[in-house]
Amino acid sequence: MTDTLIRGRLLSFHADPEDTEDSHRYLEDGALLIRDGRIAAMGDGPTLARDNPQARQIDHRPHLVLPGFIDPHIHFPQGQVVASYAAQLLDWLNDYTFPAEAAFADPAHAARMAGAFLDLLLGHGTTTACAFGSVHPGSIDALFAQAEARGMAMLGGKVMMDRNALPEVQDTAQSSYDDSRALIDRWAGRGRLTYAITPRFAITSTPAQLEAAGALAAEFPHLPVQTHLNENRDEIDLTSSLYPNARDYLDIYERYGLLGPRSLMGHSIHLTPREIARMAETGTRAIHCPTSNLFLGSGLFDREGLRAAGVVTGVATDIGGGTSWSMLRTLDEAYKVSQMRRQRMTPLASFHWATRGNALALGMADRIGTLEVGTDADLVVLDARATPAMRMRAETIRSLSEELFLIETLGDDRAVAETYVGGKPMKSQAAAL
Ligand code: GUN
Ligand code: ZN
Repeated sequence: MTDTLIRGRLLSFHADPEDTEDSHRYLEDGALLIRDGRIAAMGDGPTLARDNPQARQIDHRPHLVLPGFIDPHIHFPQGQVVASYAAQLLDWLNDYTFPAEAAFADPAHAARMAGAFLDLLLGHGTTTACAFGSVHPGSIDALFAQAEARGMAMLGGKVMMDRNALPEVQDTAQSSYDDSRALIDRWAGRGRLTYAITPRFAITSTPAQLEAAGALAAEFPHLPVQTHLNENRDEIDLTSSLYPNARDYLDIYERYGLLGPRSLMGHSIHLTPREIARMAETGTRAIHCPTSNLFLGSGLFDREGLRAAGVVTGVATDIGGGTSWSMLRTLDEAYKVSQMRRQRMTPLASFHWATRGNALALGMADRIGTLEVGTDADLVVLDARATPAMRMRAETIRSLSEELFLIETLGDDRAVAETYVGGKPMKSQAAAL
């Protein structure tokens, strides 16, 4: 395969900007040499161009080139749930979400939605996501088949849910175990795909089903586990009534062996000090879903509090409780949540979070989330002058941080000039829904 040289203004993080000033590498006139889908070199543009005359050059200057965005909490079957006028979480689930997920029993619908879902992610600069499927194993077959065709590093799992939902979207403890296991056998570790064990949340799982999820987590300790935790006050009250012996919400998951550094807890808003300490001790991840938390009125994630306690965090869209597919819009809302909490979230910290930070949360920073040599060439190209409003503001920009903040605050998919997966341009190729 011929080499490709991607030129642009490169930005990659090797440390958290909140820990050290030496957090990133920025090359004003940089280039990435891509060979066999991986980054073979990162360096000075003119030098790499001179040394690699055989490479096909793609020049993105003056745009920024970053590692592709990572979305660690999103619901594949909820593309048609976004913008549903509901009150709060439990009504929203019953009135809109479960009925929409029921439609994924039809493989043709699942296949059409899978292609559209992945192309929407790519159009927004997101190259990896950790997705909840519907209860139907076919939803994950559809998602993974199309992710594989695009060469994407995707994580996902069929939701396990055996109570408190429409009968059409319920499984049983045994069938959820069997179906998840069959999907693991079929897909886990195939190419760039990773299976995520996915009990939806404690309300829709009987103790027998959480036990089944725990059995899977014990049998496949290298696989991620994803679920929801402490999102909404009514949800928390109902959860405690269903698990009266648990010390708190997190304790339910702990009793079934579902905590650890591979566990991703969506929302994690209304946590007790005990839960925070236990998440830190076990390495359990807290995933912030700001557009969803605001849309459903769920609450304000305590980014600094969790960080200070040593909890690893990620930031995600949570489509379709979330209102935007864009990690830029998501960072902007996360910034506003920080403001409401009187916390600071710098532009460098934001872009670190959506790239290397989320890769760390997923345990994948050795492969994605940076521009390090040897990692997969998943990239996003960002244009700070993509819209009239951005161009007006860009006239007075004086630093990289200011430019990043402009992109975060005013940007969306229009600011994504290109998205690469394994060194291949994908945005310009994406088919419309
Ligand atoms: N809790 C259980 N299921 C869901 C879901 O689909 N979305 C959100 N936001 N919270 C949930
Ligand atoms: Zn969710």
